[in-house]
Amino acid sequence: PDGDCDARIRDAKARLGKRLVILGHHYQRDEVYRHADFTGDSLKLSRLAASSDADYIVFCGVHFMAEVADILSRPEQVSILPDLSAGCSMADMANYTAVQRAWKELGALFDPDSRVTPITYINSSADLKAFCGNHGGLVCTSSNAARVLEWAYKQREKVLFFPDQHLGRNTAYRMGIPLEDMAEWDFNQPRGGLSREQIEKAKILLWKGFCSVHQMFKPQHIDAFRKNHPEGKVISHPECSFEVCQKSDYVGSTEFIIRTIEQSAPGSRWLVGTELNLVNRLAEQGRAQNKIVEFMSPTVCMCSTMFRIDPQHLLWTLENLVAGRVVNQIKVAPAEAEAARLALKRMLDVSP
Ligand code: 13P
Ligand code: SF4
Repeated sequence: PDGDCDARIRDAKARLGKRLVILGHHYQRDEVYRHADFTGDSLKLSRLAASSDADYIVFCGVHFMAEVADILSRPEQVSILPDLSAGCSMADMANYTAVQRAWKELGALFDPDSRVTPITYINSSADLKAFCGNHGGLVCTSSNAARVLEWAYKQREKVLFFPDQHLGRNTAYRMGIPLEDMAEWDFNQPRGGLSREQIEKAKILLWKGFCSVHQMFKPQHIDAFRKNHPEGKVISHPECSFEVCQKSDYVGSTEFIIRTIEQSAPGSRWLVGTELNLVNRLAEQGRAQNKIVEFMSPTVCMCSTMFRIDPQHLLWTLENLVAGRVVNQIKVAPAEAEAARLALKRMLDVSP
């Protein structure tokens, strides 16, 4: 029974004491989220992993997050993902071979290492972060993408942004780059399906990856909400489409969304374009202040891979640690970790 699982998790945590820290992303289900020592968005959790003194960092999130925790923590610390099948489908839309090929194709036109900064969204595998580290580029998250792009344009005239086209487009547009100076890199086609002229003109080349969860939110959902509740506010994650972000009052990371709604006036009404577990929690918390928080899509859409982390896997991980066994460790090879760390450090240096 769940109550039993809960009690055993609490007991294992108590036994491990300060040797353990549990980090929980905001998309985690409640039964897991409540056991996290710290919760946050990707940037906040990366910083917490980097500053933790715990022997074991148990990451209740997805694979790339546990990789970042391993890269940023000390070599003797252990990063653990309770279920190894918790990946990120968007992160999987870019891989090393395809990015390397794109770089080579650009190399047939000009020297990309002097004209293009590669930027990878943190939702990507460690080898892509290493690629960026090795080519003068860096990592970004949903909360520092503008700062990262500003930094990049001080170094070189163009950016290759992967894997999420939407975060790239939404951020670049808000910085004043017009849509006609952006080009979509279709990674299934030679040279991204672009002509030499299109590549020359583009300030930002947008890898055609996307998060399927955030594509469920549509402009018409916002229109219907505004018609029924003209006083209501709309807030979205930058992984949503351009049209959804353009129609939203606020756009930002999961941490930003939570803070903005928590700090809003009692009685306010919100339409939220991000993952369901986060929105349900905000709706529940808001009730005490008569806040109404609605999910943007009429269809139930959760991040199914975040959902793979369940209390049973968390318990299994912790009880093994109590017994002196490490299961599901996430370890990045040293050379790759070093280059990826460089890209992550560049990001942390320019982040607010
Ligand atoms: P945040 O960094 O905003 O928490 O986003 C992570 C993510 O995967 C959103 O889909
Ligand atoms: Fe990846 Fe989308 Fe899930 Fe975020 S919500 S972890 S981008 S699949």
